[in-house]
Amino acid sequence: MAAEENDKIPNWKSDFPIQLKKVTHVNRREFAKFLGLLSGALALGNGGIVIKALAFPSKRLEGEHFVCNEKDVAVGEMFQFSIEGSMVIPYILIHLEEDKWRAFEQKCTHLSCAVRYEPKAGKIHCPCHHGYFDADTGKVLQGPPPRPLPQLEVVVKDGKVYVKEAEENKNV
Ligand code: FES
Repeated sequence: MAAEENDKIPNWKSDFPIQLKKVTHVNRREFAKFLGLLSGALALGNGGIVIKALAFPSKRLEGEHFVCNEKDVAVGEMFQFSIEGSMVIPYILIHLEEDKWRAFEQKCTHLSCAVRYEPKAGKIHCPCHHGYFDADTGKVLQGPPPRPLPQLEVVVKDGKVYVKEAEENKNV
């Protein structure tokens, strides 16, 4: 009887005697080693971000930059733009009211998700963790963002909309 059962075992099993239990078992030491390596990798990544920020501080904008024509963005609308020659940061221009414009960086100050203006709520929303910013000032209204949205000054001349570095940013 036992000889018959041995005959049923496929040849490959005797050629590759791998025991499933041994292969899939992860002991505490291996798991701790994995966690240690993961923590080290995360610490290195964070360190890299800090070094990059210190080595390449964000540049201030020089002069005025044309964004669009005044008539291209109706009241209550948002217009996304970037500034040629500057670091590639997306910005949003918001036509809040007649003769009232605002421009902010589009990167959320929490984890850099792209924010959007919600005209019905009159707020800027970050969809990642439901952060909200004041569309007039950029201040944080709700959620995890730690800082207001960086703002640019908007200048409208002869039907054209320009942005420039806000006065309060120049001294930072
Ligand atoms: S990335 Fe915007 S709230 Fe978290």
